Amino acid sequence: MNWDRERTVEDSALQAEIQAAGPIPKHIGFIMDGNGRWAQERGKMRVEGHREGIESVRDIVKAASSLGIGYITLYAFSMENWRRPQAEVNVLMDLLVRYLKSELDELHENNVRMLAIGKLNALPKRVQRKLFECIDIMKDNTGLNLTLALSYSGRWDIVRAVQTIALDVRRGKVSPEDITEDLVSSYLLTSEHPDPDLIVRSSGEMRLSNFLLWESAYSEIYITDKYWPDFRRQELYDAIRDYQKRERRFGKTSQQIAQDSANSGIVGRILDKFKF
Ligand code: FPP
Repeated sequence: MNWDRERTVEDSALQAEIQAAGPIPKHIGFIMDGNGRWAQERGKMRVEGHREGIESVRDIVKAASSLGIGYITLYAFSMENWRRPQAEVNVLMDLLVRYLKSELDELHENNVRMLAIGKLNALPKRVQRKLFECIDIMKDNTGLNLTLALSYSGRWDIVRAVQTIALDVRRGKVSPEDITEDLVSSYLLTSEHPDPDLIVRSSGEMRLSNFLLWESAYSEIYITDKYWPDFRRQELYDAIRDYQKRERRFGKTSQQIAQDSANSGIVGRILDKFKF
């Protein structure tokens, strides 16, 4: 199903309003928390929360794609999640395979490119097979970049990058003076992604939980009390509206930001005039 065709008039109008109101984040990272509590509060098994959480994933992916967000990264399974009861880990792995199987055609039809970050060789072989198949089929797509963080840890990725840089120094490919922030970024698994403009966390917890630690240095953070299974496109729109109200200063003063924006307006008008 082509997602553009299934959009309602109301939703298209809402999205147009958001697009006109301010910048749309290029990259949003989602810490999808609260599946277990959502289920427990309804007297259901935790797995029901994960199942319903997948419905939220479906809705957010579609909405992000039509809004023109370039990248979304979903924290689907952290390295620390391996410490959960084996039965819950098995269910999460099964759900992941089921999601990949059922969504592959639709994601591909809608031009989504799938990527994955994390210690992927720690995943069960059946998950790795399906995941790499999906990534391969969608590799040339040019729409939304959908990154699944699986068996992921931000600290682990930084350590991995540092080890690889050290090896390259030993091989003479890199000299210690070449080690800059950009070089470190280029060794991370997220090297193809812009840094996230916005990190969204559901279920009210105020922490990053080892998610995109290096990359989120200047990310805006949005936390909602909603549990992930209740986090649907309306919540995404609220998060973006909130983001649009933030002043991103990157260490500068408010006055400098206002001056930068006035200058870029003047430069833009000059470029327009001379049709550069
Ligand atoms: C956190 O909720 C959620 C997870 C550890 C897994 C997230 C997984 C999904 C939404 C489904 C699979 C994802 C994809 C991309 C197909 P929690 O269990 O920690 O909730 P709690 O804090 O209330 O216990």
